[in-house]
Amino acid sequence: MKAVVCNAWGAPDTLTMQELQDPQAGPGQVVIDVRAAGVNFPDVLIVQGKYQFKPELPFVPGSEVAGVIRSVADDVTTFKPGDHVIAFVPTGGFGQQLLAPVQALIPMPSDMDFDTAAAITLTYGTSYHAIADRAALKNGENMLILGAAGGVGLAAIEIGKALGGRIIACASTDEKLEVCRQHGADVLINYSRPDWREAVKAASGGKGPDVIYDPVGGEYAEPAFRSIAWGGRYLVVGFANGGIPKLPLNLTLLKGASLVGVFWGEFTKRDPKGNMANMRQLLQWLQEGKISPRISGRYQLENAAQALNDMAARKVTGKVIVLPQ
Ligand SMILES: NC(=O)c1ccc[n+]([C@@H]2O[C@H](COP(=O)([O-])OP(=O)(O)OC[C@H]3O[C@@H](n4cnc5c(N)ncnc54)[C@H](OP(=O)(O)O)[C@@H]3O)[C@@H](O)[C@H]2O)c1
Repeated sequence: MKAVVCNAWGAPDTLTMQELQDPQAGPGQVVIDVRAAGVNFPDVLIVQGKYQFKPELPFVPGSEVAGVIRSVADDVTTFKPGDHVIAFVPTGGFGQQLLAPVQALIPMPSDMDFDTAAAITLTYGTSYHAIADRAALKNGENMLILGAAGGVGLAAIEIGKALGGRIIACASTDEKLEVCRQHGADVLINYSRPDWREAVKAASGGKGPDVIYDPVGGEYAEPAFRSIAWGGRYLVVGFANGGIPKLPLNLTLLKGASLVGVFWGEFTKRDPKGNMANMRQLLQWLQEGKISPRISGRYQLENAAQALNDMAARKVTGKVIVLPQ
């Protein structure tokens, strides 16, 4: 099978297309013919050796796929060849076939297409866990989202709306803000303009947002946190802007506010039942039309590095996917 391989830490351009041996399912495993693989910012960091975990080299990047089961080990009784599944794995997604443990599988609803199925797990799973489990967003509360046109950001808009929130979306261009509007944002703020903090205050009736969803960090975090409402919850989701912000802790005291960490991958390991319950809710909302992943780019397997480069260069909105077949 063909796969994209990371042989050494480096920029996405150092990834190579290689012919690898077809995987064989060992105990508790299945082999999936990958039809679509989601691209996520962590993939950009993982190939550079800058993520929370470093896979052993060489490895195939890519952590979420949708596809058809090709074969199963003798001891696997819950899935069979031909089943359509979604899989969330640490690595291996950017290849024509993926070896995955059964615990990593979610059955695909029969009316779901592979592209959508590859675009829902990580971004929507993260944002649901953040907003529902960690921030407990209440009906009518204001939620500010930074990087709102990105993968987790756009998912956060839709989930925030489905939970009854009023969404204030921040992004760096008016074109990206238009995408946020199409996905349900109530207020749009271009945070490349110097007066964006005043705009956030005005958008929340002077009291500040009750919840702030931050997958961006860097220079945006402190001004955002200074704007939070009394009793607010600040969700630390990621640092796409590069810098890990350092906040003066007196700000939490002055606002009676909470800094709330979000680590979805670890949550899926520590609370698999909770994660499955979240995924069921998301699949139901998808069928009801309450959420609808935006796929702004499709790349052939040999162009997977380009997908990662476009993401790092702030060129994508919503999700982009890789098509390995
Ligand atoms: N905590 C968790 O469990 C978890 C799970 C998944 C992802 N994450 C993290 O969440 C972040 C976003 O992931 P994603 O997949 O949604 O990425 P994405 O689609 O690329 O979105 C990131 C957004 O960040 C903004 N941004 C600001 N400065 C940037 C810069 N220098 N380079 C790139 N983007 C920049 C961009 O919007 P503007 O151009 O509008 O500013 C972009 O849309 C990443 O840091 C990722 O590691 C965390």
